[in-house]
Amino acid sequence: MPTPSILVTGGAGFIGSHTIVALTEAGYRPVILDDFSNSRQRVLDGLRQILGHEVPCYVQDCNDRTALLDIFQRENIGGVIHFAAFKAVGESMDEPLRYYRNNLGSLLTLLEVMLETGVSNLIFSSSCTVYGEPEVLPVTETAPVLPATSVYGNTKQVGEEILRDVVAAGKPLRVISLRYFNPVGAHPSAHIGELPLGAPNNLVPFITQTAAGLRAQITIFGDDYPTPDGTCIRDYIHVMDLAEAHVAALRTLPQDGTTSHYDVFNVGAGQGISVLEVVRAFEEVAGQKLNYRIGPRRAGDVVAVYADATKAHERLGWATKRSLREALADAWRWEKALL
Ligand code: UD1
Repeated sequence: MPTPSILVTGGAGFIGSHTIVALTEAGYRPVILDDFSNSRQRVLDGLRQILGHEVPCYVQDCNDRTALLDIFQRENIGGVIHFAAFKAVGESMDEPLRYYRNNLGSLLTLLEVMLETGVSNLIFSSSCTVYGEPEVLPVTETAPVLPATSVYGNTKQVGEEILRDVVAAGKPLRVISLRYFNPVGAHPSAHIGELPLGAPNNLVPFITQTAAGLRAQITIFGDDYPTPDGTCIRDYIHVMDLAEAHVAALRTLPQDGTTSHYDVFNVGAGQGISVLEVVRAFEEVAGQKLNYRIGPRRAGDVVAVYADATKAHERLGWATKRSLREALADAWRWEKALL
């Protein structure tokens, strides 16, 4: 019997592509499913350069049940990591139906196909957005899940609920939801990294594009928050550390069991870093000043959120290995490779 493959939906995306590297390094055989609606073919070239071989890739929509069934059978799929989803917070408020249809539809289709084909192991991409503005920091997995402030955030919350309900119904599914904090950085080879289409929404790609001269200036969204320097606090985690958390999660799920299982883990570095601290660290790493200005607050931003990742340390045997500076250096190397 050949080694079962791991289906990685959204495997050509930012976190997905780095997880392909981590899975391969750990001895798994990943198979990509991606519709390339928010990713580019060059990711596959980058993966080939890092790994020295092609990764099987199906250009399909995860909502396509017939295509999924075909891939499960053809590739001997033994587990799934489900990244495929839309993720732009602002856009989700303008196009709620498209977000619900895509993010929840793909999860439902995937679950139906998993149950039909007897594949039980699933890692689900969730987000620290489920905590909203936490009362206690660092935030643990037992903190209350607050009403979502965006449609995108709600698709993650409802996604977690769907999984919990299916497992509670005794279906033969073993699921781990990983609540990501803020993934940053790139593979140190600079062959893969974040590829935002259009103007980036997130802090680090906006910083690197500004430093590279692609954008005139970056606006820091508010310096009047109740934090030591007035800017928001987040938990930035190197994308390769985050990728490795998926491998650790997969390893804790036995390959042949049929018992139902659901669990959730924070995946963050555990350190609260302000926006200005990220800017200063980047300036040091890149050896150049960043052209920034202080602007008004951005609607929907929480003041501070960072992880207590003790549960992932203890139960998944996982810990971060890379610093924020390494992440910023890798992101900068990647940005320069794109020029
Ligand atoms: C955002 C989403 C979050 C999602 C994550 C995935 C919001 C409110 N949250 O997290 O739900 O899971 O992306 O990528 O959009 N900043 C600036 N200037 C910029 C860009 C960002 O000052 O040009 C600041 C933000 O105000 C924030 C910090 O940098 O304080 C991080 O922002 P960002 O990278 O967008 O991530 P989050 O907002 O934490």
